[in-house]
Amino acid sequence: MGGWFIVDKHWEMDTELIHRHSEQKQTGAVAQAIVPAVAYSFADCQTAMEVVSGKQEGTYYGRYGNETLYALEEKMAVLENGEAALGVSSGMAAISIALLAFLKYGDHVIVTKDVYGGTHKFLTSLAPRFGITFNYVDCTNPANIIRAMRDNTKAVYIETPSNPLLTVLDIEAIAKITKRYGLPLIVDNTFMSPYLQKPLNMGADVVVHSATKYLNGHGDVLAGFIVGRTEHIQFMRQNIMGDLGQVLSAWDAFLILRGLKTLGLRVERHCSNAHQIAAFLSAHPLVETVHYPGLECHPQHEIARKQMQGMGGIVSFELKDGLEAAKEFMDALKLAMISFSLGDPETLVQHPATMTHFSMSDKDRTAAGITDGLIRLSAGLESASDIIYDLEEALQTINQKEKEGLLWKTV
Ligand SMILES: Cc1ncc(COP(=O)(O)O)c(C=O)c1O
Repeated sequence: MGGWFIVDKHWEMDTELIHRHSEQKQTGAVAQAIVPAVAYSFADCQTAMEVVSGKQEGTYYGRYGNETLYALEEKMAVLENGEAALGVSSGMAAISIALLAFLKYGDHVIVTKDVYGGTHKFLTSLAPRFGITFNYVDCTNPANIIRAMRDNTKAVYIETPSNPLLTVLDIEAIAKITKRYGLPLIVDNTFMSPYLQKPLNMGADVVVHSATKYLNGHGDVLAGFIVGRTEHIQFMRQNIMGDLGQVLSAWDAFLILRGLKTLGLRVERHCSNAHQIAAFLSAHPLVETVHYPGLECHPQHEIARKQMQGMGGIVSFELKDGLEAAKEFMDALKLAMISFSLGDPETLVQHPATMTHFSMSDKDRTAAGITDGLIRLSAGLESASDIIYDLEEALQTINQKEKEGLLWKTV
């Protein structure tokens, strides 16, 4: 019976992830029901009119949401400590909706220079068609944000830790600035999930997620979330997501609700595996640099310790011999898979310069520090010793090729 009565207490995160969903309140069912209906009927015309005009709560058409998704949105709002949440069809849908909600023709946005390649592409190719301009700013020094402000600046957008270089930004310090200047601060929290970091608690106004990654955690759903104030979320639902048709389906919402139940267990394992991998790579003679916030040598290690509950599951590193070595290394891996995504049970590697950040110009990539030898690794849930064995064997392969003069050095 317990599940029926627990919804008013604020539980620890591990408990919140498993309990609190509307099906428990309504029917007592332990798992969330999938409600795939697109259309909803009304008892009478008056009710229909009031629901459509927003005077009465209710669902009238699936493009604006569905019952399964509402249960997930309620959970996401609780997890991120926001007033409301909106579930959408991908992380990029979440990012573009959040930006479009605060920006219109003639506006300018300040963006951290370390952003996911898709965000970069949206800002450079689509946003300018709607008269929106932006500036990349090194937000590791928050004072740079003030210097970059213009009369028409309407928002600040950051990602921390960043993809793929794991740059960590001081959310609290940046939020103090954005509050002083009355600008909304939008934070991409994909790499952390609310399990490890809650930007709204540190003063951010809006959180966005690619739920395709850790939140779902099984590599079988594309989804995104926006969490923030009710008025902002309502505007995004009614005027952007619904009109552009970017809703998350009931089936996908169900899978994420299921995935979330194990988020805590998964994230702890991802973090511990990533830490062991980062330590191994740091000590390897063929590895030039390792980027992992959990390493004491990481430039923002102290900020990471202050604002993150764990150091995350992503490690990126550069091999000494550049592109050729990176390719040889990735091809030699037997357990880790070459893949675009991250946060899955499988260990995944990718080459940002030619994969996730391919759409950036050479100049922008160089400015962002994405070198040809850089590899991003998403630590999976396998045994850490097996992942490290796989990495060691692959490094041994390139070492051998180098000795035999078979590796064409690009650096
Ligand atoms: C940090 C970050 N934000 C957003 C996205 C975009 O998410 P999606 O692929 O779900 O659109 C990604 C994808 O890799 C990401 O790494």
